Amino acid sequence: MSDKAASAAIPNNLEAFWMPFTSNRQFKKAPRMFVAAKDMHYTTAEGNKVLDGTAGLWCCNAGHSRPRIVEAVQKQIAELDYAPAFQMGHPKAFELAARLAAMLPSPMDHVFFTNSGSESVDTALKIALAYQRAIGQGTRTRLIGRERGYHGVGFGGISVGGIVNNRKHFGTMLTGVDHIRHTHDPVRNAFSRGEPEHGAEFADDLIKVIQLHDPSTIAAVIVEPVAGSTGVLIPPKGYLKRLRELCTQHGILLIFDEVITGFGRIGTPFATDYFDVMPDMITTAKGITSGVIPMGAVFCTKQIYETFMTGPEHMIELFHGYTYSAHPVACAAALATLDTYEEEGLLTRAADLASYWEAAVHSLKDCPHVIDIRNLGLIGAIELESIPGEPTKRAFSAFLKAYEDGILIRTTGDIIALSPPLIISKEQIDELFGKLRKVLENNI
Ligand SMILES: Cc1ncc(COP(=O)(O)O)c(C=O)c1O
Repeated sequence: MSDKAASAAIPNNLEAFWMPFTSNRQFKKAPRMFVAAKDMHYTTAEGNKVLDGTAGLWCCNAGHSRPRIVEAVQKQIAELDYAPAFQMGHPKAFELAARLAAMLPSPMDHVFFTNSGSESVDTALKIALAYQRAIGQGTRTRLIGRERGYHGVGFGGISVGGIVNNRKHFGTMLTGVDHIRHTHDPVRNAFSRGEPEHGAEFADDLIKVIQLHDPSTIAAVIVEPVAGSTGVLIPPKGYLKRLRELCTQHGILLIFDEVITGFGRIGTPFATDYFDVMPDMITTAKGITSGVIPMGAVFCTKQIYETFMTGPEHMIELFHGYTYSAHPVACAAALATLDTYEEEGLLTRAADLASYWEAAVHSLKDCPHVIDIRNLGLIGAIELESIPGEPTKRAFSAFLKAYEDGILIRTTGDIIALSPPLIISKEQIDELFGKLRKVLENNI
């Protein structure tokens, strides 16, 4: 792209757009603009190619601008642009729900559509409360999250979430929420490959919470099977199984927030498959449409769904939903995304690449300031020692340098997180880590 074309691609007025989770003033002084994307690469306004090491925001699992998905979206908009979601339907919503249900292990077989991960989380929390009430357990109103958890930015999600900056500015949030400990234990587990050996007993923190509040007050526990946005925390061996046992024992619903682990990220379709632990509900978004059109979905068991299917048949069973639940264009995108995943074996491809990826991530162990490395499937995290008194700065300058060098990485605090599209090749993995090594060695 010529200089002229590049400057035309950057609008003159950047002021009006209040950018999410962004240092607006810094960005607007030196904007970084993507103007196109194809397969594993973005193109910047200056015409540079950037290798996508993060699948956008953990969402473009099939890569970018995949023909089947693009065509399906174009066709759908021309055919049926919108259909009301309440008391009306359209065929693709049912087709998609049935197809998703068939992908999930039994008895997880019903799907409620939303438009984002945050909405999926709110939906699951509300279903949990309504379900407990419907089975005569109306005193179960407490929701339990986990320290360092990320469940989006709705009031439900930040309440059960455990990231301080996402919570402290926003008042008291939901009441009746408590948290169990996070699972990060660098003293025992630093540089673990895959699931860390130590820490199944962190799940027993739930016993303390149960003893404090009494199980009869607790509706649900929500955790990310692999915590992503906090900087990638892999669950210790046996931890999720233990949480499941405790929830079952005490009549508490277990919700897995699979907004990032869903759709192949760790080498199985869902984390529930990988860890062989069945929650009562699963929240998803992102990879459901490979990030192409906003969409989310909550999966729940037959038992939960059937509990609501009582009373007079003309009555609405769940007073919840969104104008854009099961939006036709999102459904078309999701169906074409599932086709793409299936045709290319993408939902298990991370398993094939996992050991190559693991070796590549851990090859950075000797780089300056690296204090921990974590990985699972096609997720990797490199934790850097913070500059004294200036947390986040070291990783963010690595992000800026990496972008200049043609790779997109993501940072949280001083942790670099990587989660490329599932179509990444071994050569591209080499390129990603070769360039990242140079960035880390370059005095950041
Ligand atoms: C585990 C988890 N839950 C929920 C969300 C929120 O999703 P959204 O940004 O689509 O609302 C995210 C986003 O990164 C996430 O990682």
